[in-house]
Amino acid sequence: MSINAEEISGLIKKQIENYQAELEVSDVGTVIQVGDGVARAYGLDNVMSGELVEFSNGVMGMAQNLEESNVGIVILGPYTEIREGDEVRRTGRIMEVPVGEELIGRVVNPLGQPVDGMGPINTTKTRPIEGPAPGVMDRKSVHEPLQTGIKAIDALVPIGRGQRELIIGDRQTGKTTVAIDTILNQREEDMICVYVAIGQKESTVRNAVETLRKHGAMDYTIVVTASAAQPAPLLYLAPYAGVTMGEEFMYNGKHVLVVYDDLSKQATAYRELSLLLRRPPGREAFPGDVFYLHSRLLERAAKLSDAKGGGSLTALPFVETQAGDISAYIPTNVISITDGQIFLQSDLFFSGVRPAINAGLSVSRVGGSAQISAMKKVAGTLRLDLAAFRELESFAQFGSDLDKATQAKLARGQRTVEVLKQDLNKPIRVDKQVVILYALTRGYLDDIAIQDILRFEEELYSWLDHNRADLLESIRTTGKLPADDDMADALKTFKKTFAKSDS
Ligand SMILES: Nc1ncnc2c1ncn2[C@@H]1O[C@H](COP(=O)(O)OP(=O)(O)OP(=O)(O)O)[C@@H](O)[C@H]1O
Ligand SMILES: [Mg+2]
Repeated sequence: MSINAEEISGLIKKQIENYQAELEVSDVGTVIQVGDGVARAYGLDNVMSGELVEFSNGVMGMAQNLEESNVGIVILGPYTEIREGDEVRRTGRIMEVPVGEELIGRVVNPLGQPVDGMGPINTTKTRPIEGPAPGVMDRKSVHEPLQTGIKAIDALVPIGRGQRELIIGDRQTGKTTVAIDTILNQREEDMICVYVAIGQKESTVRNAVETLRKHGAMDYTIVVTASAAQPAPLLYLAPYAGVTMGEEFMYNGKHVLVVYDDLSKQATAYRELSLLLRRPPGREAFPGDVFYLHSRLLERAAKLSDAKGGGSLTALPFVETQAGDISAYIPTNVISITDGQIFLQSDLFFSGVRPAINAGLSVSRVGGSAQISAMKKVAGTLRLDLAAFRELESFAQFGSDLDKATQAKLARGQRTVEVLKQDLNKPIRVDKQVVILYALTRGYLDDIAIQDILRFEEELYSWLDHNRADLLESIRTTGKLPADDDMADALKTFKKTFAKSDS
């Protein structure tokens, strides 16, 4: 029997035509109410929750509230053109975004459309933005370090690949800087970064992209942005779009870092949208499912098992507090979902301790197992020492004559604070961090004046680069602390060259 290609293609064509006709009859509705980014439509009886719908002028929407007589739709674009009585059509698709390598180096909106004026993005694949998180059996415990390049984080609250670490603080406490510096430090780490900017000023996002580009970090970074000027539904969708783009790489065995800057603005956008959809408000007027909003997002961070390719997706969500109140609704929610938090405190920031990390209130619940052994050795007790120093410091203000031991402790504490300070956009490689922390904890800095510490550190790094590159190399490749003799020898030789200032 011979197959007639023409006949078959004719049949298929006919079927496709009929199929479309059928779809059109039952899947068109009418807009009965529209306003503020939300529309209600009648007649979309078969629509799915979260399905994309198209208005007659081409603007897309997403079905949210499925009620008996009508459907609540959030409008994903300019809504002023949509009128009562307009047609609205099902697409049969769940909301998806383009994914793949082509997005790297680009700035896109939450729908995956480019907003950087660098032309179209020719992706071939898409993924639905809502997806199940990997199950328990598909996961492995977090064990590889994610080097942020920020001494205070890598030493005190280390982050592992696949972890979720909350960064929380008031406005203007250096939150975004932590995100950008962490991305900058991934240059040699074979990591893909996704920076999701939610509800920020367009100029702020522009500056961030500029900084990333200047340091060559856009070569491995995707920026997803929904600025403050965008409608609330886009702000609500942005983190899901970002994690979806990251997941594509994770499931292909790569390591991904996704930064959500910040989730409080997403929660606010979601509150706006929910109130417009007339969902019942709860505490602080947030809808009842605001916890689920963040939990289903952050659950998608994972370290995959070897059978699944061993990829990882690390999530760094940000939350902005009001007047340092970490016990407000959204902060407590997100604290309970994540594996630890880094608390940035404004009074520390203003007193010049930058990054302004409060060591007492910051914690990383899985990070310890994800530190290289050299770092664990030098920084093991640093966090507790620092907390003890803060306590001692406040006592010492009262008494004038302190005994030798207390004075020594205070001196060490002041040097610790000084060493943990770090300028912005200057991430430091872990091997150098280990050396300076070794010098600190083994007392090599005790006879250096506080105001010399910064210069000591900088000169030490460049001296090491020129004279003891082998030492750095061995820390980097083996992850182990070199023998004490070797370290002592290097530090003593360097100290001979270091000129103390007169004061
Ligand atoms: N380690 C640092 N050293 C010096 N300056 C810093 C440091 N970190 C942040 N800054 C400065 O502090 C300012 C605020 O930083 P940043 O924008 O990161 O804070 P933020 O908490 O994200 O602010 P916002 O609440 O506006 O988003 C910036 O001008 C930045 O240059
Ligand atoms: Mg910021």
